[in-house]
Amino acid sequence: MSVIQSPSSSATEERKKVSVRLIQAMKARHEPISMLTAYDYPTALIMDQASIDIILVGDSLGMVVLGYESTLPVTMEDMIHHCKAVARGAKYALLVGDMPFMSYQASTEEAVRNAGRFLQEAGMNAIKLEGGRERAETIRAIVSAGIPVMGHLGLTPQSIHKFGSYRPQGRDAGAAFKLLEDAQILEEAGCFSLVLESIPKRLAQLVSQRLTIPTLGIGAGVGCDGQVLVTHDLLGIFERFTPKFVKQYANLAGEMKRAFNEYKAEVKASAFPDDEHSVDMSDDEWQCLEEMLAKENPSLIIHDQAIR
Ligand code: KIV
Repeated sequence: MSVIQSPSSSATEERKKVSVRLIQAMKARHEPISMLTAYDYPTALIMDQASIDIILVGDSLGMVVLGYESTLPVTMEDMIHHCKAVARGAKYALLVGDMPFMSYQASTEEAVRNAGRFLQEAGMNAIKLEGGRERAETIRAIVSAGIPVMGHLGLTPQSIHKFGSYRPQGRDAGAAFKLLEDAQILEEAGCFSLVLESIPKRLAQLVSQRLTIPTLGIGAGVGCDGQVLVTHDLLGIFERFTPKFVKQYANLAGEMKRAFNEYKAEVKASAFPDDEHSVDMSDDEWQCLEEMLAKENPSLIIHDQAIR
C-alpha cells in the first residue's frame, strides 16, 4: 500500500490493491469500472500508473500479439508466460487471467487445476472463462477451490466455429431471453463479475440491472457497470481489423511506422548515432592507448583522429 494523490481529486488517499470485493462495491455505489487487456510488463506498469481497475490478460493475445487467426491456438503455457510478465508490472489493479480454449471444457477436474495455475504460478487474482449454463458446474467447482471467476457471455470468441463469424449476439428475443437466463445462472454459480461482449445495449443494460454482480461491456453500450477494450485496438496497434465498437484513443501504428522510417533513414545516411548518442573516452586515455599500441607494435599508429 502507498500514499498517492488521487488523479480524480486533490485529496491525498491511500492506494489499495483492487480486490474482487472492491469491484463489487463499485457497482453498489454506481462507480463505473475500467478494465483493459495487457500481455506484457511495460504495458501493465503504465496501466497501473493510470489506475486502471482491472487488467485482463486476455486470450486475445493469440490474435493481437502472437498473430494467430483466432484465439483457439492459445495454450495454457502462452497464458502463464504472459500473465507472469503482467503480474511483475501491475501491483494495484485486479489481475484476471483468461482461460484458453480446451483448458476448462474437457473435465471439471482439469478446469480446476488449470484455474489454480493462474493464481499459483502466474500471479493472477482471478480467472475468466467463456460460456453460459453449460459452464455452471465448472464455475461452481473453481469458485469452491477459492478462485474468483469472471464469466463471459454474448460473442464468445472461442466459439467462433459455432457462430461462423464475429457478429453481435442476442439480437432476437429468444436469444436475448436465453442470455439473460445464462447471466442469472452464472451469478448463482458464483461468478464475481461478467463480461458482456457485442450484444444490444438495451439487453446489456437489462442484464446489468437484474444482476447484483458487475457487468463489463465490450460493444455492449454504456448501461454496463464497467467497460473493457482490447488495448491493441484502443491504441491503434492492431490494424488487421477493427470491430465497430472499438474507439481508437491513439494511432500508435502510425507513430511506430513514422519512428521506424525515421530511424532507418538516419541509419542509411549515417546520421545516427550522433555525438549525443555515442559514448566517448578522454583524450588522455586515448593518448595512453596509442602509446600502449605503439610500444606493442611501433609500426601501428592510429591515423584516423575522426575515430574520437
Ligand atoms: O480475450 C480478451 O481480450 C477478452 C476481452 C475481449 C474481454 O476476452
